[in-house]
Amino acid sequence: MDFTRVIDRRPTAATKWQKYAGTEILPFWVADMEFETAEPILDALQRRVAHGILGYTDVPASLTEATLAFLQNRYQWTVDPSWIVWLPGVVPGFNLACRCAGVPGDSVLLTTPVYYPFFAAPENGGRSRIEVPLVKDGQRWVMDFDALEQAVRPDTRLFMLCNPQNPTGRVYNREELLALGAFAERHDLLICSDEIHAELVLDPNTVHRPIASFGEALALRSITLMAPTKTFNIPGLPCAFAIIADPMLRRRFRQAQAGLVPSVGPLAYAAAEAAYRHGEPWRQAMLAQLRANHARLAEVMAALPRVSTTPVEATCLAWLDIRELGLQDPPAHFEAQGLGLSPGAPFGDANFLRFNFGCSPSLLESGLARFRNGVAAA
Ligand SMILES: Cc1ncc(COP(=O)(O)O)c(C=O)c1O
Repeated sequence: MDFTRVIDRRPTAATKWQKYAGTEILPFWVADMEFETAEPILDALQRRVAHGILGYTDVPASLTEATLAFLQNRYQWTVDPSWIVWLPGVVPGFNLACRCAGVPGDSVLLTTPVYYPFFAAPENGGRSRIEVPLVKDGQRWVMDFDALEQAVRPDTRLFMLCNPQNPTGRVYNREELLALGAFAERHDLLICSDEIHAELVLDPNTVHRPIASFGEALALRSITLMAPTKTFNIPGLPCAFAIIADPMLRRRFRQAQAGLVPSVGPLAYAAAEAAYRHGEPWRQAMLAQLRANHARLAEVMAALPRVSTTPVEATCLAWLDIRELGLQDPPAHFEAQGLGLSPGAPFGDANFLRFNFGCSPSLLESGLARFRNGVAAA
């Protein structure tokens, strides 16, 4: 478990590095980390490969058992095994959720900025999209319930929640989630909650609670999406799951999935099970590194003029407000300094850039130095 080691990912066609192949630009964009995954996961993969046959594979009962135990331990959430639908990714999960909510032509409500595939999901499923901006309350991004009340329509069937929130790093607290639950109840909305970053909580005073774990009524209107892939840095082995307590909704979800969404493969199942069974020491050590990286990033940002950011409660992603730099093309400006950040526009706000700090401290220093140069050159 050495999170300071720099590993060259370029020979693996890693998406993050491929974007800037042949240039001197260092990538701090897409949300995977530069850390080698946990040894128990690598061991499980090696054992599974050594078997030699990698055929079609059912969900191993031992994986479901490990996942339920993980949910129980971490969230004190008792999930029935029948509620789980395994998926090759969270993105297919929220696309399927849009297809099971109401009928074509109905609308889906979401808040912005948000992980950009959220924007396409309603339309992919023949629904329309209603966007409501998050607002800043001091140092926190929060949902604007007055604006949500104004925006919701009689044909709105689904609220797409991202919690922990990508890109702002917020973890909604109990009061916020209960207020959202009451809003959903008032307007009879389903909630699709993307909680892929739930196990990446950095702030020691912040607790993540799945919205569906607040009681039966909320469970019955929720599709919760989770995965081990972000946390354990194995997103190239797609494996995720939906938790759907309502049997009718689960049936609709499975019907929407049929013939379109492939099943998960044996290596991804093996990695997921090892993550949930044996990954906790690695996760804790990795979180310690992310906390240190976040503290360093926050320190550098605080000293910079014309740039502001908010504390990251969870994720390895910082949402940087660079509007005062007055740049025409913010991503290109920083690329010219050798720094590849995620542009804010696809998330819904071009005044921001997203900085992924899930890397070794030395790489982080290079990225921060280039960021400083970019600010000075603006
Ligand atoms: C909020 C959120 N949801 C989903 C995903 C991707 O999920 P998957 O790779 O399982 O489709 C990401 C990846 O960055 C994400 O940030």
